[in-house]
Amino acid sequence: MTAIEAVDLYKRFGDLVAVDGVSFKVDSGEVFGFLGPNGAGKTTTLRMLTGILPPDRGRAIVLGLDVWENPIRVKERIGIVPEASNVYIDLTVWQNMMLMAELYGVPRDVRVSRARALLDSMGLLERRGEKAKRLSKGLRQRLLICMALIHEPELLFLDEPTGGLDVQSAREIRDMLRRMNREEKVTVFLTTHNMWEAEELCHRVAVINRGKIAAVSGVEELKETISRLHTIEVRFEEAVDPSGFSEALGCDVAVLGGGRYRVQVEDVDETIRRIVDYAQEKNVRILSLNVVQPSLEDVFLEILKR
Ligand SMILES: Nc1ncnc2c1ncn2[C@@H]1O[C@H](COP(=O)(O)OP(=O)(O)OP(=O)(O)O)[C@@H](O)[C@H]1O
Ligand SMILES: [Mg+2]
Repeated sequence: MTAIEAVDLYKRFGDLVAVDGVSFKVDSGEVFGFLGPNGAGKTTTLRMLTGILPPDRGRAIVLGLDVWENPIRVKERIGIVPEASNVYIDLTVWQNMMLMAELYGVPRDVRVSRARALLDSMGLLERRGEKAKRLSKGLRQRLLICMALIHEPELLFLDEPTGGLDVQSAREIRDMLRRMNREEKVTVFLTTHNMWEAEELCHRVAVINRGKIAAVSGVEELKETISRLHTIEVRFEEAVDPSGFSEALGCDVAVLGGGRYRVQVEDVDETIRRIVDYAQEKNVRILSLNVVQPSLEDVFLEILKR
């Protein structure tokens, strides 16, 4: 079954086209990552999919319903963890849960048991009497997820759920999302600009760049692209002729200034040998030579080439 269908979604803010004809499908049961750099249009797309923002064009179909025509019926069945925290910091953990339960019309007799179970599964039950402002960022994010699940949604939308968290907290959130997907069969749609996170957590990803979908792929394919790509940065004592250098290496060279150059290659060994040969031939000293992991932009460019 299809959980989410974005059909040619389009949104502009003044002169800026934030989302430019975005289409993709998410099956129920999937963990689907919406991956893109800052400003790519991730949040804007998510807001159109969740009925917060009207699209200028196109349609968002969620759980078989047009979101803009059935906002309430859709919202009853989805959970949303927004980009900016909507925890009430002066209320306790428990009060936040109860407030959300009330907003979503969760029947009184099940509110308490559901809230207890959720907080327990996130390791927050012991802290239920504490004010939210006393929680660390990671715990506050866990609380937000509990709040988004209080009405037992079939589908959970999360906007950068691990943004700004330390490595350990981010891992816990990921583990928890995976568990929820496996055990409770909740479909998960999340945005991220971290491709390692997408690789680890998602079944499939859509890559968005400047408002357009660059690729929709299985995570294996993404992994393969990432592992094939190597970026080598070299710094010479002085600037060299870029076109001659590029010719010697047999690939494009990006000039970074200050004698620094960057190349994108598959064969690291061969490229390093060529760089060393080139330096010897031109009698220029190498100050540093690094193999670095590809950035998200590098991966985009690679995907876009195909
Ligand atoms: N309400 C708004 N008014 C004007 N411009 C907006 C508005 N919301 C978003 N934008 C612009 O639209 C573009 C896409 O923004 P969006 O928030 O969707 O990106 P994003 O992929 O979520 O980025 P980030 O990773 O920084 O959260 C950006 O250039 C942003 O500045
Ligand atoms: Mg965003």
